[in-house]
Amino acid sequence: MEPSSRGPAGFLTQANALLRKNLTFQKRNLKTNIGIIGFPVVICVLLVILQNVVNHQLDKAKYRCGCVCIDTNGDGNCETVCGLQYSTLDQVGSCPIPSPPKWPALLQVPRLESRAVRSGFVSSTDLPDASCKDSKSCPATVLFTGRNQTLAESLTGNLFKSTSSSMDFSDYLNLLSSLVPGSDTPTRDTQFIEPAFISGRPLYVLQPQCTANFTRSVSFEISNRTLEIEVECAQGLSLWRDSSSAVNDELFKGYRQGNTQRKTNEYIAAYDFLNSDENGFNLNIWYNSTYNNDTGYVPIALLRVPRSLNAASNAYLQFLRGTGVMIRLEYVKDMPKSGTDNRFDFSSILGALFFTWIVNLLLPVILNYLVYEKQQKLKVIMKMHGLKDAPYWVISYAYFFSLSAVYMICFVIFGSVIGLKFFTLNDYGIQFVFYAIYLNLQIVIAFLMAVFFSSVKTATVIGYIYVFASGLLGQFLLRFFMEDSSFPRGWIIVMEIVPGFSLYRGLYEFAQYAFMGDNMRTSGMRWKDLSDSQNGMRNVLIIMTVEWLVLLPAAYYLGQVASSGGIRRGPLFFLQYFQKKPSASFRKPSLKQQESKVFVEMERPDVRQEREVVEQLLLEQSPNYVVISDNIKKVYPRRDGNPEKFAVRGLSLAVPHGECFGMLGPNGAGKTSFINMMTGLTTPTSGTAYVRGLDIRTDMDEIYTSMGVCPQHDLLWETLTAREHLLFYGRLKNLKGAALMQAVEESLKSVNLFYGGVGDKQAGKYSGGMKRRLSVAIALIGDPKVYIFDISFKSLKLTIISLWRSNWITCHVMKCFVRLSIWMNQVLD
Ligand SMILES: *[C@@H]1O[C@H](CO)[C@@H](O)[C@H](O)[C@H]1NC(C)=O
Ligand SMILES: *[C@@H]1O[C@H](CO)[C@@H](O)[C@H](O)[C@H]1NC(C)=O
Ligand SMILES: *[C@@H]1O[C@H](CO)[C@@H](O)[C@H](O)[C@H]1NC(C)=O
Repeated sequence: MEPSSRGPAGFLTQANALLRKNLTFQKRNLKTNIGIIGFPVVICVLLVILQNVVNHQLDKAKYRCGCVCIDTNGDGNCETVCGLQYSTLDQVGSCPIPSPPKWPALLQVPRLESRAVRSGFVSSTDLPDASCKDSKSCPATVLFTGRNQTLAESLTGNLFKSTSSSMDFSDYLNLLSSLVPGSDTPTRDTQFIEPAFISGRPLYVLQPQCTANFTRSVSFEISNRTLEIEVECAQGLSLWRDSSSAVNDELFKGYRQGNTQRKTNEYIAAYDFLNSDENGFNLNIWYNSTYNNDTGYVPIALLRVPRSLNAASNAYLQFLRGTGVMIRLEYVKDMPKSGTDNRFDFSSILGALFFTWIVNLLLPVILNYLVYEKQQKLKVIMKMHGLKDAPYWVISYAYFFSLSAVYMICFVIFGSVIGLKFFTLNDYGIQFVFYAIYLNLQIVIAFLMAVFFSSVKTATVIGYIYVFASGLLGQFLLRFFMEDSSFPRGWIIVMEIVPGFSLYRGLYEFAQYAFMGDNMRTSGMRWKDLSDSQNGMRNVLIIMTVEWLVLLPAAYYLGQVASSGGIRRGPLFFLQYFQKKPSASFRKPSLKQQESKVFVEMERPDVRQEREVVEQLLLEQSPNYVVISDNIKKVYPRRDGNPEKFAVRGLSLAVPHGECFGMLGPNGAGKTSFINMMTGLTTPTSGTAYVRGLDIRTDMDEIYTSMGVCPQHDLLWETLTAREHLLFYGRLKNLKGAALMQAVEESLKSVNLFYGGVGDKQAGKYSGGMKRRLSVAIALIGDPKVYIFDISFKSLKLTIISLWRSNWITCHVMKCFVRLSIWMNQVLD
């Protein structure tokens, strides 16, 4: 096939080339591949191990709902029966309690040895003498105050009730509710079992005076079991204090004294009747919130407040209406609950953190990939070989997405197979949508981040920091805010704009639903749960989708800016695709160009001569010249306080067929700027150049098929072989099938990389000379008509040798001459 008859490579051809190259690259990237597969597996296995260890600990009989073996039908074989009644307090938590038992509301009575007595610390003289402790007859004291002492005293006179001998203790619930029962056992956070009844300590009935030998025994039932408890008398003493602050002071002193060797001075409660009178009952109650046996910070002693309130209310009612009436607080009971087993799903507890890491882990991988191509300037060289932005983008995007999808699918399947509730309980549809959206967002973020990095190392480090930080901050900051209901929801949404946080939030919701579902024996998150206002999933999905839609064009745009060598394009640069392209034919110099000729008159004669030749050629449309540069200029605009920089100041030259044209100049003379314009990397500020009659401003795609570019530095993928490089660039040049194979073969042979299997070694292992030869071979593949070599002084020798080896230079070298003066004069003046 005649090379010139090949058109430019289409989208699909380029996409195909890129995809094959990416797959090879991925295949070679062993460490990353192992990491990608290994990390989720390690985390999941770790979770399973933790899960088993924890379950093993929790599933001990100590925490399992208590069971006994009872011979129910008398046949000598016992059956295991489990339930609340067979459980210790530690076990109660895991028993199902469909109908919780009723318990009498109790008053918190200080222990006998701690009850308030006269002492050096408390000045009150109306307290009992400390000698009552020896006779075990100390009364339990209530302090009270109020505006009207007469009223308050008659109220507290009704507070404690005497028992009559005819009381029926078999109906203890009914009976106790008409008395003032109390206990000195601290409460717990549930009332499923009232600890007072199983602590082995007696119940007290508070009475104005204790009669001798009051002690009774009451039998009560918890479900099927009958237990007994002693009921003793405790004398209730109520003492007037002048003011609320006096009450406070005395309570405080009683507490303070506990720090000395002496026992504390404890009180049942204290009342302030405020301005109560016949028409209204106002009340303040002091209760002892530290009186609990739990380190928890919940003031669970509140469970002992109802009786205290009931006693005072009753006293007031009886003050108004006489002793015949009563407000009866018969019992208190907890709400029913379902049984729980003591295994909790670890993946749900730690899942949000670990899985944030796992899902985010792809970000550094993608970033690494993108920045590598940028750092090694591979993107530039691919562009020079005609790779357009659109195929690069689409293929890279699709490629990363498939990579992420495979990764996530493996992860979810693996997690489900080993039985992590996180995956199995939540609807797979929601999981699919959530992960799909996040993975897309993540790819866009990686593209965006890649714009700002030029070193793989920095990018990788920052990438991993982002991964681990977003997980940890999610777990220890965001979660904290989410669970604090007073934290404004709006700010949480603002935080969720950070993609790592929105990922954390989504995974957190999955974890919560899985945890609840596991405990309640129901399912996890379902579609209908998205409408639940507590469920952050819907917001997260919306935030991520919007973010993706906004960032996608931004990432594409910034990627374009970055890949065009940092040249700032107008924000609407993409509109240029819709503008009518100027015709490709040679045009007459415009008025502006003619104006500039006035200035040109002062140029050196040889420069002027070349310019005139070019102008003449442009009018003639001579086909004998391969490159005609028409007053091409490159000006970098004013930036960051630097003045405008003239990189190329109006260069005109014409290179005929078969000529080897060399440009020499010191650093910064504009050689590379010129080459960048010739290879379409940057656009000229004014003027243009024609390559085989095609305008570089409009016909770069055509020009690429007949142009070979060899950059200053060897821009190669370290892990790809010479053959793979040539295949890739050959495809970009629209070579196909047998022609491609042949071209690659010939190319390898021509630069002496064919024999001994050198062509199938990874380029990273090549010596400098071999790399240079490969670069030359890449420039030569596809039999271009114009070659552009950007050669630094260092690589000059190697390049010449490579060219000579490839038999390329011999056929042209005779015709070659180097025209220095034009360049030197134009640039150095
Ligand atoms: C205090 O209460 C008693 C009994 O209700 C009442 O008789 C008396 O008037 C009250 N005193 C004041 C100053 O309100
Ligand atoms: C409250 O309870 C604590 C703990 O039992 C005790 O040390 C303290 O003295 C009590 N305070 C009063 C005023 O009874
Ligand atoms: C608190 O509980 C521990 C054991 O759980 C017990 O030994 C101790 O006596 C209890 N304290 C009180 C004041 O009941």
